[in-house]
Amino acid sequence: SPATGTVPGRLPFATVSQQDLEFFNKLLHSRTITDPDLLESSNRDWLNSVKGSSEVLLRPESTEEVSQILRYCNERRLAVNPQGGNTGLVGGSVPVFDEIILSTALMNRVLSFDRVSGILTCQAGCVLEKLSDYLEERDFIMPLDLGAKGSCHIGGNVATNAGGLRLLRYGSLHGTVLGLEVVLADGQVLNCLAGLRKDNTGYDLKQLFIGSEGTLGVITAVSILCPHKPNAVNVAFLGCSSFQQLLETFQCCRGMLGEILSAFEFLDSSCMKLLETHLKLVNPITESPFYILIETAGSNATHDEEKLHSFLETVMSSSLVDDGTVATEQAKIKALWAMRERITEALTHDGYTYKYDISLPVEKIYQLVTDMREHLGDRAKNVVGYGHVGDGNLHLNITSPAKDPALLAAIEPYVYEWTARFQGSISAEHGLGLKKKNYIHFSKPPEAVALMGNIKSMLDPRGILNPYKTLPDCLR
Ligand code: FAD
Ligand code: MLT
Ligand code: ZN
Repeated sequence: SPATGTVPGRLPFATVSQQDLEFFNKLLHSRTITDPDLLESSNRDWLNSVKGSSEVLLRPESTEEVSQILRYCNERRLAVNPQGGNTGLVGGSVPVFDEIILSTALMNRVLSFDRVSGILTCQAGCVLEKLSDYLEERDFIMPLDLGAKGSCHIGGNVATNAGGLRLLRYGSLHGTVLGLEVVLADGQVLNCLAGLRKDNTGYDLKQLFIGSEGTLGVITAVSILCPHKPNAVNVAFLGCSSFQQLLETFQCCRGMLGEILSAFEFLDSSCMKLLETHLKLVNPITESPFYILIETAGSNATHDEEKLHSFLETVMSSSLVDDGTVATEQAKIKALWAMRERITEALTHDGYTYKYDISLPVEKIYQLVTDMREHLGDRAKNVVGYGHVGDGNLHLNITSPAKDPALLAAIEPYVYEWTARFQGSISAEHGLGLKKKNYIHFSKPPEAVALMGNIKSMLDPRGILNPYKTLPDCLR
């Protein structure tokens, strides 16, 4: 039985038979995994919060193999859980019951890179950091970056429509992904891989799969538009004494650094404490209630540094910022980024983590943290806030020594009602997966949810692709 109370029961899918295994073995040979020890990590999510009981992990190398697997599973009515780097944070990447895990780990080849257009085409299982390294050698960068870069796959990024640390500058994957190759539930290969900036021939079908969390098709290849590598990168780490001052600093930053600004991130002092306690990271500036990480990326180092210094002078002389430090060399830039990127990891050492990923009008984002702290009192171990200020995206995280149903009942639906009151989104960038699917109504009208159900039925009539995820149980 599943480790979560959110699923009513296993749907009437077939179970894997000896004959099925023979088919997979013949197709994939040793890339059909049934050893329970090897399956263990693929059945468990990154947060160690949900656990499936799949007995089969398939590791195809080609689109053709994915197509044959899905055609077979669809005919047999075997449920399939597509999996990339398994870094998803909403319980979408692991099976709920015994779904077959279809991993893209061996689909990790770059197919082409065009230095003139900056268009990269690769298989879905390429690890984000490997793609970044590949591009840096060619003076380009990926348009997205996230803390999970060492493990997450580009296919998983597209399937979740991951936002991350560069969205402020380069926009979402709905803009940077130019083409996709997707295998549909019945095994049909949909080749929408055209690497064109402009293409208005009919409906833009690839958009349906961006953010569909493995429920509409398996992404097998991606074409993505990559920016030129900036010549000059600077990072500033600043301290503010109130969220209001942080917001004013953001406004000032937009005005003074506009065209070179590539990230505006924040964390509160509770996050800093977790970094210090659990990861032994050292706060590079004086203790403050709020910290900001600003990155600039531009083409002229002297210009950028001048702009950054004049901005820093302004915010410090007007007392918006209390203290700060700046990095231009790679090692220090990395160390400052760690203060923001490693919060997720620090939280896992603090206990069981309830994670919320909320979009709100930016001036409202921290009020939710303050209200939640007050609402929970001493029932929570820690209530912390961090996130992508530039995108109006708050990560509200609540820890407790162990899984605590009473605490969860105090958090939900409170957090979703709070968000809906300000027309926010209950999932800004992580998706709905298993954990949030039944709260979709807080952010989408019934007509939109019903249409999503119709799209699902059309593309996956037998419901084999990532069942129990994304769409609410009422659509089952
Ligand atoms: P998985 O976790 O394996 O899968 C995620 C979902 O996509 C599942 O529903 C799965 O079924 C589906 N899927 C995977 N591959 C495919 C495919 N080829 N075809 C169809 N469906 C597929 N997210 C952000 O948006 N911004 C961040 O800044 C960010 N930072 C993170 C930092 C850390 C430390 C961690 C652990 C996670 C972070 N995430 C962030 C969560 C984020 O969703 C992922 O890291 C990433 O996008 C998931 O990629 P993955 O390859 O690990 O996918
Ligand atoms: C982040 O921005 O750090 C990620 O989305 C991960 C998280 O929310 O913890
Ligand atoms: Zn994030």
